[in-house]
Amino acid sequence: MIKDILNKHEVNRSDIVYLLQVNEENELSLIFQKADKVREKYCGNEVHLRGIIEFSNYCAQDCLYCGLRKSNISLERYRMTKNEILQTAERIFKSEIKTIVLQSGEDFFLTGKDIADIICEIKNNFDVAITLSLGERDYEEYKLWRKAGADRYLLKHETANSKLYSVYHLGQKLQDRVQHLLYLKSLGYQIGSGNIVGLPAQNLEDIAGDILLCKCLDVDMASFSPFIPSPNTPYRKQKPCDVNFILKVMAITRIVLKNVHMPATTALASLYQEGREKGLSAGANVIMPNFTPAPYKEKFSIYINKKSDDDIMTQLTALISSTGRFISKEKGQTLKMH
Ligand code: 5AD
Repeated sequence: MIKDILNKHEVNRSDIVYLLQVNEENELSLIFQKADKVREKYCGNEVHLRGIIEFSNYCAQDCLYCGLRKSNISLERYRMTKNEILQTAERIFKSEIKTIVLQSGEDFFLTGKDIADIICEIKNNFDVAITLSLGERDYEEYKLWRKAGADRYLLKHETANSKLYSVYHLGQKLQDRVQHLLYLKSLGYQIGSGNIVGLPAQNLEDIAGDILLCKCLDVDMASFSPFIPSPNTPYRKQKPCDVNFILKVMAITRIVLKNVHMPATTALASLYQEGREKGLSAGANVIMPNFTPAPYKEKFSIYINKKSDDDIMTQLTALISSTGRFISKEKGQTLKMH
């Protein structure tokens, strides 16, 4: 049965739910082997690094799971200056990383033009791709940033179950989130989406729905990361996602989506010591090291015990070669054929 599913070219929702239920050792290894094969076929052995700058932790949203939620008044807020952002971009560029990710909470103090100026400066000074991860903004702002040189936009759908979406995000609509992803796509951004695995009340059907939504949106990157509770949030007492489960979800996502980029996320590395290595052998081909400088870094506390490495490049170089893979020298643009 499992071999039949793994050999199908197109798997459907019930196949995905079936795979998600697999718990027997031999069957699990078949899933991981297949994911590794698919990853090798579509991504090769290169691992793309994306350097993250978390430049503001102000957030207008109140997501129940996230430590940056606006109701978390115990979190000290910060906003990096343009100069600090550019200096960090330079550190990333000098580490030979070819993608810079500008990430923040939904911070409306920064205007569309402020962000566009930062994008222009980075693009004028460094030969890198830029990914934005700034939450939901206006169509006109997305357009301005694309014109300024932004290449990609990361906006996770978080859950494809519309009822759960409105619970986690206090009445917001999944439909609006999807609409924003479509706007971004229509503007020529490479889009990244994905979910959080292990949120309260989420079931296997929901996770199958997350994978299929990414497929339907034809995403360029799919980021599936484990839920980790965050203090001072309504979900502080919830259990973290099981590490073997998130690895299985990643492997199945790779098998279904094939030619997408997929990160071994910081959340996975925070959940489990060898998370990055395990992620790379469960279908991932991207790592997103954090370059946010002190004293800001520790304040971007989305969840508890977020992994923070000082000599990250030395570590990643050793880690990636220990898996028999190598760091890409390319920007790691979309894997979709045009
Ligand atoms: N556990 C795991 N991931 C989380 N995020 C926010 N809070 C948590 C949490 N408690 C993720 C969301 C968001 C990204 C920046 O961080 O998916 O899109």
